[in-house]
Amino acid sequence: MRRLRSTEPLRNLVRETRLSPSQFILPLFVCPGEGVRREIGSMPGNFQMSVDRIVQECGEVHSLGIGGVILFGLPETKDEIASGGYAEDGIVQKALRAIKREHPKLLAITDVCNCEYTSHGHCGKIVDGDVDNDSTLEWLAAAAVSHARAGADMVAPSDMMDGRVGAIRLALDSHGFEKTPILSYAAKFASAFYGPFREAADSAPQFGDRRSYQMDPANGREAMREIALDLEEGADMIMVKPALAYLDLIAEARRRFDAPLAAYQVSGEYSMIMAAVRNGWIDHDRAMMETLTSIYRAGAGVIVTYFAKPAARLLS
Ligand code: PBG
Repeated sequence: MRRLRSTEPLRNLVRETRLSPSQFILPLFVCPGEGVRREIGSMPGNFQMSVDRIVQECGEVHSLGIGGVILFGLPETKDEIASGGYAEDGIVQKALRAIKREHPKLLAITDVCNCEYTSHGHCGKIVDGDVDNDSTLEWLAAAAVSHARAGADMVAPSDMMDGRVGAIRLALDSHGFEKTPILSYAAKFASAFYGPFREAADSAPQFGDRRSYQMDPANGREAMREIALDLEEGADMIMVKPALAYLDLIAEARRRFDAPLAAYQVSGEYSMIMAAVRNGWIDHDRAMMETLTSIYRAGAGVIVTYFAKPAARLLS
């Protein structure tokens, strides 16, 4: 077996998995103000940015050949009914209009969820101390339509309510957005690895946790049922999240379903690597490429990752 490993040209020739920047989606956090570019403490190299700075950033992302961006919003104010999430002039909607004006060819996806917009930090409407499923669907559908209206190329629901893909599809179609695809966070687990994101998006739940709606990390078969349901409801693409601790499910989903499959290398996965890098314990570029390659090798053709820019630079 070692003969084909002996030189770089031979290794290049027989490499089975090759990444391209076009497979990466970069998450971006948009905040109010002007000229704001605030580094997220636990996620070095990632920033909360105001609309003007996000537009600049998108220019760089586009020129690196990165597949696209996914937008998260930090609204001016939060309330019980997540109104900032579906307001026509909400923060994500404003950012989208500005991005599409300057960079019409850059793929702009939006995360559709309520947790960044509710005062309690949960992903939906609270009834009797728990997130109510069906009334939350109305907020999600309204958010998706407002994103499409502002120019979103694709919407990505991440809330884990039952029936949300169907509800969003129906709402998009009835508002004239038949062509807007849905990337469903189909198998999304209640994970410790979202910790840094909740600082970045200011979306930590103020009481309890998300285990009554996000999946139990122990359940792989249930993940396949979630994916099957979302595809039935009309999801165009499916996603497994987080990535590295769920490579078995990425591989299983790839075997079972023929829809385009994405995986989300989440904030905690990024922060762990960056923390070890900062301590001089592991090599940044190698750890980054090894994890991205393994996610692709497992079967995810699209990878949402905070490493999109440095990885794209390395690949070009
Ligand atoms: C919104 C959402 C979360 C993430 C993506 N969309 C947070 C959560 O579910 O608590 C996590 C992304 C990351 O950790 O990078 N619901």
